[in-house]
Amino acid sequence: MSSTANKLEYTPEVAAVTAPIRERVKDVIPDVEWAIHAPLIARINELKQERNATLVVHNYQTPEIFHGVADYTGDSLGMARYGADTDADVILVCGVRFMAETAKILSPDKTVLLPDMDAGCSLAASITGADVRRLRKQYPGVPVVAYVNSYADVRAEVDICCTSANAVEVVESLNTDRVIFVPDGYLGQYVASKTDVEIINWEGACEVHERFTGDELRGYRKDFPGIEVIAHPECPPDVLAEADFVGSTSGMIRYVGEHRPEKVVMITECSMSDNVAVEYPDVNFIRPCNLCPHMKRISLPKILRSLQTLSPQVELDPELGLRAKQSLDRMLEIGRSAESR
Ligand code: 13P
Ligand code: SF4
Repeated sequence: MSSTANKLEYTPEVAAVTAPIRERVKDVIPDVEWAIHAPLIARINELKQERNATLVVHNYQTPEIFHGVADYTGDSLGMARYGADTDADVILVCGVRFMAETAKILSPDKTVLLPDMDAGCSLAASITGADVRRLRKQYPGVPVVAYVNSYADVRAEVDICCTSANAVEVVESLNTDRVIFVPDGYLGQYVASKTDVEIINWEGACEVHERFTGDELRGYRKDFPGIEVIAHPECPPDVLAEADFVGSTSGMIRYVGEHRPEKVVMITECSMSDNVAVEYPDVNFIRPCNLCPHMKRISLPKILRSLQTLSPQVELDPELGLRAKQSLDRMLEIGRSAESR
């Protein structure tokens, strides 16, 4: 029996085991909350050894998950690559369902857990495989690119997937004049602004990023002179036009690490700034709070329960999974150099 099993109290033993993590997150998690998180973190970290499980954590997860229990943290592309290469028997995804589906598609023989199956995504919900079949009839011979914020039935119908980190490279890799791009209309418009390829767009939107406005960004510049504004490409065009840098969540984090701005605002989901502030205490983060309700369904108690019960598991029809894998594999083959954008 492991030392902290069945004890979910903040004992001196738990405090000692979690002390290095506490030190890292002390500026973003208050003491009163830490006393609740620490026993869960200690037990989860024990249990993942016992289960030979790996925790793959998206950049939008809260700091106690991101810094407390992750084996890998990153954007959708990094999560996909890590999940495809891991030797673990169990992949537990702290993110949303399309991310867990990516892990299952790439590792069909592994147990893939998502602590809350209701962790959805407004983009993924905006389109189905039948919609893609209709688009193909409407535009015969035009290849279809699917942003990975989509489910397996969509990925099974498209030529290739992309993420926010490699969307332009993926579109250009097809060597064609026109592509159909689904389901993020704003990301599609951003790609169109970076390439000569004509983009036929599906008008899905991220409910978090579509709320930002150009006026809001101009307000930050006025209120905080000298601030650097960095934005995710799921934002509307007037927002991206105001940004100093546009990139995937990991690209944004890398930008902060490389530029060390005195003041910065990350135009994306709000946990990102808390997570990155831990690494860069010298940077002043202005933190607008647009929260993704789907990402926030994942919590330490749900992660613990998921590891204890090995549920809920992502299950996919094997034939559908195989078809979806082709479009992901094509992306992983051509996109290897693009992760840093
Ligand atoms: P990234 O791949 O850039 O992390 O984006 C995923 C996502 O859901 C953004 O809203
Ligand atoms: Fe989907 Fe937007 Fe949430 Fe990302 S932030 S998971 S795109 S709803």
